[in-house]
Amino acid sequence: MHKRASQRLSSDIVSAARVIAHRMSGGQTAAASLSPSVRDLVYRGSRAWGLAQVRAARLAAKNPPDGELLALLAIAWAAMDQELRPVHVVVDESVAATKKLFAGRRGAKPAEKIAGFVNAMLRKTLADPIAATEDHRQPMARFNAPAWWIDRVTQDYGQQAPAVLDALAARAPLTLRLCDAVMSMKDYLANLSEHGIRGYPVGPRAVVIDPPLPVERIPGFLQGLVSVQDSAAQHVVEIFRDLGLRLGRRPVILDACAAPGGKAFAMIQSTDCEVWAIDVSAARLNRLQRDLPRVGQHALGRVEMCVLDVLDEAAWQDSGLPAAFDAIVLDAPCTASGITRRQPEIAWRRQPSDLFDVVDIQRKMLDILWRRLAPGGELLFVTCSVFAQEGEAQQQAFLERTPNARLLSSPGRLLPVSGITGGCDQDGFFYARFGKIEHANHGAGAGALDTGPGHRGGCR
Ligand SMILES: C[S@@+](CC[C@H](N)C(=O)[O-])C[C@H]1O[C@@H](n2cnc3c(N)ncnc32)[C@H](O)[C@@H]1O
Repeated sequence: MHKRASQRLSSDIVSAARVIAHRMSGGQTAAASLSPSVRDLVYRGSRAWGLAQVRAARLAAKNPPDGELLALLAIAWAAMDQELRPVHVVVDESVAATKKLFAGRRGAKPAEKIAGFVNAMLRKTLADPIAATEDHRQPMARFNAPAWWIDRVTQDYGQQAPAVLDALAARAPLTLRLCDAVMSMKDYLANLSEHGIRGYPVGPRAVVIDPPLPVERIPGFLQGLVSVQDSAAQHVVEIFRDLGLRLGRRPVILDACAAPGGKAFAMIQSTDCEVWAIDVSAARLNRLQRDLPRVGQHALGRVEMCVLDVLDEAAWQDSGLPAAFDAIVLDAPCTASGITRRQPEIAWRRQPSDLFDVVDIQRKMLDILWRRLAPGGELLFVTCSVFAQEGEAQQQAFLERTPNARLLSSPGRLLPVSGITGGCDQDGFFYARFGKIEHANHGAGAGALDTGPGHRGGCR
C-alpha cells in the first residue's frame, strides 16, 4: 500500500472517530458534510459500537475506554473483521490515528501511551480469534443495541425478536419512491438499466438502488421523478390516493409533523389534494421548502407550510389553519427504533425514560388533532418504531378513550426486513387509521367513511 493512501486512512479514522463519539453523545453531524470514505468508516464503526463495548469490557475490564477512544476502536475492529484493508495496515493506521487524535490534548494521558493501549487491544484481539468470535455472539454486539432495548423488543416479539433485531442491525440500502403517476416501475427500471444502475423493486413504487449513489446522479431525482424514502414510509400513497374521489372534491389534509416532507411529498405526487404541512421545527420545515421545487415538478396537489407546535392549543387560534380537516397524518415523534439500520446511534442515544416521554407526547397529539378532524374524516397515526407502546398499545388506548373513533384498514404493524433481492426491504413502522364517526349515537359503521381497499400491505 502506498504511504499516502495509508496516511489518508489514519486521517479518516480520526475524523470518523470524532463524528461517532459526537453522535453517540447526542450530537448531530450531517452525513452530506462528510467525505465518502469518512462516511463509510462512521457507518462501520457505529454498527460495531456494541461489539466495541463488549470487547473493551473483556480486554480492559478495569478501565474500559469510552468516547472517541471507544469510537476509534470500534472502527478498527470493524475494519479488521470486514477486511477493509490488510490487518497489519488497519493496526498500524489505527495506532497512527490514535496519536493524531490525542496529540497535545490537555488533561489526557500522553498520546504515545494511548496509542500503545490501542495497539495492545488490537493485537490481543488477533491473538485470540476464538474469544473474538465469541464477542460477536453477545446480544449487545450482535444486535448493536443496549440491553434494555433488546429486552424491550424481546418482550414485544418473543421468539421473533432475534429476527427483528437482526434486520435492524443490518445495513439499509438506498430506497427510492417513484412518482408512479408519471412513470411506471417497468419503465423506470429500464431507465436505470440504460444508465448501468441496478434497481430492485421492493414495493409498488419502492426501488432499491444497489450500490447507493449520490442523489444527483440518480436518474430522475433532480426532475422530481424519484425521492429518497424507505418503502415502509410510502404507504400514505395508497391510503389517501382515492380520498378526493370518495369526497367528490379536493381533500384538505393536515400533515401534523411534516418535516422534512417525505409523506407530504408522497401525497401531493399521488393525488390532487391541499396539504397543510406543520412542524415545530422551522429548520426542518426549511428542508421541505428547499425540496418542494424539485418534487413540485410532478405534483398533483399543493402544500402550505406553517411552523406550529401541535401541543400548543393557543397557537392554533392565530395560525390561519383551516378549522377542520378531511384527513390528518400524524407521523409522530417517536423513539425511531424501527430505523436503526439507517441510524445505528439511535439505540445508544435513547434512555428507557425516552420511550415513556414520547408515548405521552403521541397520546396528547392524538387527542388534540382528533378535535381538528371533520366528522367523517380520518386520522392516520404513524411511527417508525418497533416498540408496541408506540404502536399497538397506543392504538388500543386511543380507541378505548375515544368513543367516536373506529379503526379503519391500514398496513398496521410492518416489521423491519433487510434483503433487497427477496423483493422486500423495509424499516420497522406502525400505522393506525382512525375514522371519525359522524354522529356518535349511530355507533360504529355509521360514518360515511369508506374503509377503502384492504391496506394490510407491505411485507411483514
Ligand atoms: C417522524 S418526524 C416526521 C417525518 C415527516 N413526516 C416525513 O415524512 O418526512 C417527526 C417530526 O415531528 C416534529 N415535531 C416534534 N414535536 C412536535 C410538535 N410538538 N409539534 C409539531 N411538530 C413536532 C419534529 O420536528 C419532526 O420533524
